[in-house]
Amino acid sequence: MPDQNDIYILGISAFYHDSAACIVKNGDIVAAAQEERFTRKKHDFSFPKKAIDYCLEEAGISAEDLTYIGYYEKPFIKFERILYTYFTYAPLGIRSFLKAMPLWLKKKIFLKELIHNELGSETPIIFPEHHESHIASAFYPSPYEKAVVLTMDGVGEWTTSSYGVGEGNKMDLLGEIKFPHSLGLLYSAFTYYTGFRVNSGEYKLMGLAPYGEPKYADLIRKHLIDIKEDGSFKLNMKYFNYCAGLTMTNHRFHKLFGGPPRKPESPVTQKDMDIARSIQQVTEEVMIKMANHLQEETGLDNLCLAGGVALNCVGNGRILRESKFKNIWIQPAAGDAGGALGAALFVWYRYLGNERTVDGVHDLQKGSYLGPKFLDEDIQEFLKTTETHYERVDDAQLPKRIAEMINGQNVVGLFQGRMEFGPRALGGRSILGDARSQEMQSTINLKIKFRESFRPFAPSVLVERVSEYFDQEASSPYMLLVADVKEDKILPESRNTQKQGIEKLKIKRSVIPAITHVDYSARIQTVAEDTNPLYYNIIKEFDKLSGCPVIINTSFNIRGEPIVCTPEDAYRCFMVTNMDYLVVENYIFEKAKQPNKDKYTKDDISTVLD
Ligand SMILES: [Fe+2]
Repeated sequence: MPDQNDIYILGISAFYHDSAACIVKNGDIVAAAQEERFTRKKHDFSFPKKAIDYCLEEAGISAEDLTYIGYYEKPFIKFERILYTYFTYAPLGIRSFLKAMPLWLKKKIFLKELIHNELGSETPIIFPEHHESHIASAFYPSPYEKAVVLTMDGVGEWTTSSYGVGEGNKMDLLGEIKFPHSLGLLYSAFTYYTGFRVNSGEYKLMGLAPYGEPKYADLIRKHLIDIKEDGSFKLNMKYFNYCAGLTMTNHRFHKLFGGPPRKPESPVTQKDMDIARSIQQVTEEVMIKMANHLQEETGLDNLCLAGGVALNCVGNGRILRESKFKNIWIQPAAGDAGGALGAALFVWYRYLGNERTVDGVHDLQKGSYLGPKFLDEDIQEFLKTTETHYERVDDAQLPKRIAEMINGQNVVGLFQGRMEFGPRALGGRSILGDARSQEMQSTINLKIKFRESFRPFAPSVLVERVSEYFDQEASSPYMLLVADVKEDKILPESRNTQKQGIEKLKIKRSVIPAITHVDYSARIQTVAEDTNPLYYNIIKEFDKLSGCPVIINTSFNIRGEPIVCTPEDAYRCFMVTNMDYLVVENYIFEKAKQPNKDKYTKDDISTVLD
């Protein structure tokens, strides 16, 4: 039975992209998860019923015990923006208007009733604005007493970027940029133009950028975006179609860049890579100018970021290196899933006015390990229902055994502890490999993830050794900062080899080639003993065997599939790929010894074209 004095706040984000729920108990983040992990529908945007059920269960309460609900945006104002935009662009916008209306009329504007009906309770609902939720998700869990907060995304109600100062439990908004002028939508327009899926392919565009040259950056600056010195900007709407149509770009945009958008799944050309590099460069320019301006205005040392653009870890890395901010903290669920967390924290700190205490060093996000964990009895239950071959290993032996597998050039699926909240796998639901291997990048991309070979892999490194391998001192627990591989780890001859486009992949660039991107950078995750002891000890053991405290960490899923959530999901994914070992808590599964190998096919996993 929950104590009557406890205050439980449920945060919800839904109906746009990546629905999620979270529960905050007396200010403590008890649980948070995305709906896609439970429904197995990637980026599921439906009402997050399963995620809510999980959060309630984790908190040990039922819906009637909730004190407040925070919903991550104001539906009426968003509806007003959509209506206004359609009418401004009428009759051009009629097709997208008709497409969007049924969902709005059925669900979004009657949200209060919908939430109460779904939960079967009359809990009061607070509706912060979309960017207030992002701001709250960036500042409140951060380690800082006082910080500049900057949010950048596609769009919420009207705002597309907002900035202010957070102090204690207060957040003062200093300014904002409004729709249709949006850095997120600009980036998404190029995601669309280069043939990737809007709202999920942005990561691919960023990964593609280092293969290209910024040949189109001046064209973008000249025609598409007017960037001021303070980082504020205006888009030239003549080239975009997202206000009125079902596409992001229009014929003028296509004429400017010399042709129609790339067809999804068709070969990626050098031109696509050059375009990726160009928009990446312009985006970074805006991010850095905004950050510099805010630092100069406020004189503060700390910066907090959220909103989808804050997943641009290349831009984040440059802010850390090139701006005057000394410290940067980025909400790991920076996209709209994190809005659920922001909304709940908004209610606790801003609406209820509770005090906030931080120590300046440790954040309140708990490593973002906020999802379900499976106990021994749960795994035993799974083993009863599925015919497998396994070995049970003690806690003490586990790190060494896994390190030996990695050192033996095996690809290992690691499933342990609580699932991560946010798009990155951080050692709870990860696929691991040897970062020293030149072949590992294409092996894991093609044989395990079934995805494009250009996609880079990220390293996990022991936090105390990060500066030995990378040009970075700061910790990066959420894999949201990109930095260069240290010069003395780079193979000098690789710099003299001239190759173009995807051919660049074939060059061995460093002593950790599997995670060294073609521009010698890496998207770093630092691993600390206190946040994830098992993962830390695996890398530590691997270092003892190999002399290298860096391994490959990629998310445990195949292309188009949400990251695995349960032992069943993990086993199924293991069986349809060429992964060599699967570790589920204390249970080790070796591929060669599994029965029913032919029973599993890729069709067993629901995927979407992403
Ligand atoms: Fe957003």
